[in-house]
Order: sequence, then C-alpha cells, then structure tokens
Amino acid sequence: MDTKRIVAFTCGRRGGNTEIYVKTALKAAARMGIACELIRLNECDLGACKDCLRGPCYAKGPGACILKDDGEWLAQKFLESDGYLLAAPVWSLSPAGIVTVFRDRIFGPKMDLAAWEMNGGAPEWAHGRKLQRPGALISVGGALTEHWTSLGLATLYTTTFSAQTNVVDHLNIFQVADQGEALMRRDYMKKAEYLGQNLGHAVLNPQIDWTHRFLGEEKHEACPGCHTSVVVAKPGRDFVECVVCGRKGYVSLVDGKLAYRWPDDPQDRLTMMGKYDHMREIARHTEERFKPHEAEIQEELKAWRALEDFTVEPPSKLAKRAAKKAD
Ligand SMILES: Cc1cc2nc3c(=O)[nH]c(=O)nc-3n(C[C@H](O)[C@H](O)[C@H](O)COP(=O)(O)O)c2cc1C
Repeated sequence: MDTKRIVAFTCGRRGGNTEIYVKTALKAAARMGIACELIRLNECDLGACKDCLRGPCYAKGPGACILKDDGEWLAQKFLESDGYLLAAPVWSLSPAGIVTVFRDRIFGPKMDLAAWEMNGGAPEWAHGRKLQRPGALISVGGALTEHWTSLGLATLYTTTFSAQTNVVDHLNIFQVADQGEALMRRDYMKKAEYLGQNLGHAVLNPQIDWTHRFLGEEKHEACPGCHTSVVVAKPGRDFVECVVCGRKGYVSLVDGKLAYRWPDDPQDRLTMMGKYDHMREIARHTEERFKPHEAEIQEELKAWRALEDFTVEPPSKLAKRAAKKAD
C-alpha cells in the first residue's frame, strides 16, 4: 500500500503555540505510518490573488498564475496530499491574515470540485490527483473569553469548501497566549493528539464518505454539519443560518433555552449539491440581471476605470517605475 501523506499548513510565531499543537497532531499521525509535512505559510513567498479576470490558473492550473512565487508549490503540496491540516492563531477575532491569502491563491472556483464536475471533469492540470480528502483545523486564541476567537474556526473552514475537504475534527483553543503556553495546557495537547489520530484514521480509510462525519469531541454546538455555533440571527425570522455551512436551523425555546432543528438543506455548502446551488445562482445572476445591461454600462465603466484623481501610489511601485525608466 502506498504511504499516505498529510500536509499541515500553519502560521503564527515560529515555534509558537499553534506550531506546538500542529506538531503534536502530526506526531500522532506519523505514529500511524503516515508521512507528515509541516509548511510555515509565513515563510512562503505568497502574494495576494489579483483576480486577473478569471486568469490563466483556471485553464492551466496554479503554475500559470501571473504571480511567480510559492503559490504553485503550495497548490501541488495540497493536491499531492491525502489529508489536510490547517492551523492559525487568532488575530483580531480571525485567523492571521496569511490564511486568507493562502485560501484565495490555492482554493476558490479554480479548485472547485462541483465546478469541475459540471464542466466535464477535473481539468488536465489536476488529472491523476486525489479529488477529495479529509481535513482538520486548529485555531489558537489567547483571550480568556471564547467570543474573542469567534471568527477563527469559521474562517479556517472557508479554505475547505472548494476542494470538498471533509473536516473530521477541529479545535477551537483559547486562553493560550504567551509563547510556550501551549505546553501548560495538557488538555489541549491531548486534544491535538486525538485530532492527529482522527485525521490519520480518515486518511487511512478513504473508502468511507467523510462528508458530515465528525470524529472530534461533541460539544453541543449549534450546527450539526460543521460543529460550530456562529450563526446569522436576523430579527423577525424563526430560523438562523449557519455562517459556515449556509444551512437553515429552526429555532425554538425549550425550558427557556435555545434549541435548533436542522433539516437537510440543499444550500449546505459542505456538500457538492450546495455548491451546485450556488453556481446556478451565480449563472442566473449573470444571465438575468447583468447581461441585459452589460452593453449600456461599457462607456460609463471606461470612465470609472480611468478615474485616478484620488489614487496614491505606494513608494515601492514608484521606485520600480523609476528603476525601469533609468534602465
Ligand atoms: C495582532 C494580534 C492580535 C491578536 N488578537 C487576538 C484576538 O482577537 N483574540 C484572541 O483570542 N487572541 C488574540 N491574539 C493572541 C494570539 O492569538 C495568541 O497569542 C496565540 O497564542 C498566538 O499563537 P502563536 O504562538 O502560534 O503565534 C492576538 C495576537 C496578535 C499578535
């Protein structure tokens, strides 16, 4: 049997708390005979996606990106893996910024399994790659109160939708702030070890459909799909929407406490059909709302694009222009 591989993408301080939990999880998975790699996102050269009008990466893969940096290598590392681990410290309620750069460069529509399926199968650049894999997420916050970490896990989840990575375990760690404090929390170290084993188990059993199969600790979170409790709760409705999955949960009070009922929802973006639903709505939008007016806005659009009266260019760009002129 081929050796299975888990790739862990991590960030935060080098040797910091997040890394300690990641290494704990990887040590557990490595003991199961799985080859494990840890990649420090902060040490990668990775520029923000420029959304270059559905650029070359859509057709030719990450190697064709207009940014020549470590993006292609990161995408290949993901595609070559059998299991995915993403971990980040919480900065201002959310994961450290490099996570969203990583997400936008590696994932999104170009890596979307549902889009591939709708358009005749995986593009040539992804042929022979594993299509779906299990994953796990670790968010590490320093605050004493959990609500200071509210967007951590939810945002880490946003890297999993396109490639249908099935999250089988996640940890929302809080109260771990100072360098090395991770080591003082043996409870979390144990949970990280179990997370590594759970991800390892899923990686070793690819015959199982891991959609909505959660192996982590049951903590009575609101949503039974992603096991988080971050919801959109608009007044006047009798339902909430899960921020991660998009599915509807109907709310009631039982003995004065919140209770939820979550019917299967075609909008559930952890499923392929949830993404079909979204792609159909995007197509409808373009056809019905945008296309009928596309021609009439062209002239006006040109003027807006040309308007640079307020733009201030950064010193780096000015220096590059000056150097080019001097050549
Ligand atoms: C810029 C910055 C913002 C932070 N904001 C939060 C926050 O909103 N909530 C929280 O729980 N911790 C916050 N923290 C604390 C870190 O999440 C915490 O120290 C964590 O252990 C760092 O992980 P690391 O050692 O892997 O870098 C912040 C830290 C920094 C540097």
